[in-house]
Amino acid sequence: MSTLLPFRRRAQAAAPDQAAGTSRMSNSDKFISIEGIARRYPAPGGKTTTIFQNLWLPMRRGEFVCMIGHSGCGKTTVLNILAGLEAPSEGAVIVDGQAIAGTSLDRAVIFQGHALLPWRTVLGNVAYAVSSRWRKAPKAEIEARAKKAIATVGLAGSEHKRPSELSGGMKQRVGIARALSIDPKILLMDEPFSALDALTRGTLQDEVRRICVETGQTVFMITHDVDEAIYLADRIVLMTNGPEAKVAEIVENPLPKNRDRTQLHHAPGYYALRNHLIDFLVSRSKTLRDAMPADYDPRHPPVIRPSLSEADAEAIAASTAPAPRRA
Ligand SMILES: Nc1ncnc2c1ncn2[C@@H]1O[C@H](COP(=O)(O)OP(=O)(O)OP(=O)(O)O)[C@@H](O)[C@H]1O
Ligand SMILES: [Mg+2]
Repeated sequence: MSTLLPFRRRAQAAAPDQAAGTSRMSNSDKFISIEGIARRYPAPGGKTTTIFQNLWLPMRRGEFVCMIGHSGCGKTTVLNILAGLEAPSEGAVIVDGQAIAGTSLDRAVIFQGHALLPWRTVLGNVAYAVSSRWRKAPKAEIEARAKKAIATVGLAGSEHKRPSELSGGMKQRVGIARALSIDPKILLMDEPFSALDALTRGTLQDEVRRICVETGQTVFMITHDVDEAIYLADRIVLMTNGPEAKVAEIVENPLPKNRDRTQLHHAPGYYALRNHLIDFLVSRSKTLRDAMPADYDPRHPPVIRPSLSEADAEAIAASTAPAPRRA
């Protein structure tokens, strides 16, 4: 195959690996398993609107998975189902071998809005979460856990401030501290940084990345920000437009796990990956919704595994291609 094929076609050419079984997750690897879930709502005229159906997605322990898709395709609904805040119309979510039924302190949610209790201090907000996890723990232990989580997000010294005294970024840090303080097995984040200015967003992405790498958290995060997904995710789930949204493909991030934000754009394969994601959002998310490939299998959506060496080869081939001959 020519190294000059567009990234998408080369990427799809990686699918035979999938057939060979290398990308299929074994049952023992599945920490979270979304199994054929659907969400339907009643529509006018006695009809039913299907937001998505037959959605399958396994996740490994310690994996950082981002979901990207246009507004209304059902991302928040998927996250709410993972959190146990909503039940699917069909299918189930299995976590650590057990079907989830309702919310659990093992699954912490960080929303776009921080949803802090305005009358409590930073310490009070986080300690409240800690005490709901360890109900019988002595006050000193609860405070110690809360302070540790507050320090982890860089807010030591602000324990006694109330939300009204905090910037947007600080409030979001408190939301993250509160989620981390209960030692969850899974972090669920719904566009957690989208309301922040670019500088604060970058700093918080760095914090979350550091914490997740250090603690080995399993994370499911929704974002509209392609660069955020490239920086944070191990795998990026691409949803077609809704209604009847589908997992169009799952992109494995080829960049090294140990990523440096400032050097990301120099990493081999970065631009090919970025272009692929943007191309999906701009055009393929719609065309794929209207016509999925005949061999599309919702239980095993195409896995796009860009090859660094091929991406390099393409870049080099493009830059060294002989100039067209003059007549
Ligand atoms: N209670 C409801 N009744 C009917 N339709 C609903 C209800 N809740 C959500 N929906 C519909 O489900 C679809 C998916 O909503 P959801 O919030 O999951 O989308 P999303 O992908 O998170 O969008 P965004 O990117 O804008 O946050 C939307 O079209 C929405 O109108
Ligand atoms: Mg949403």
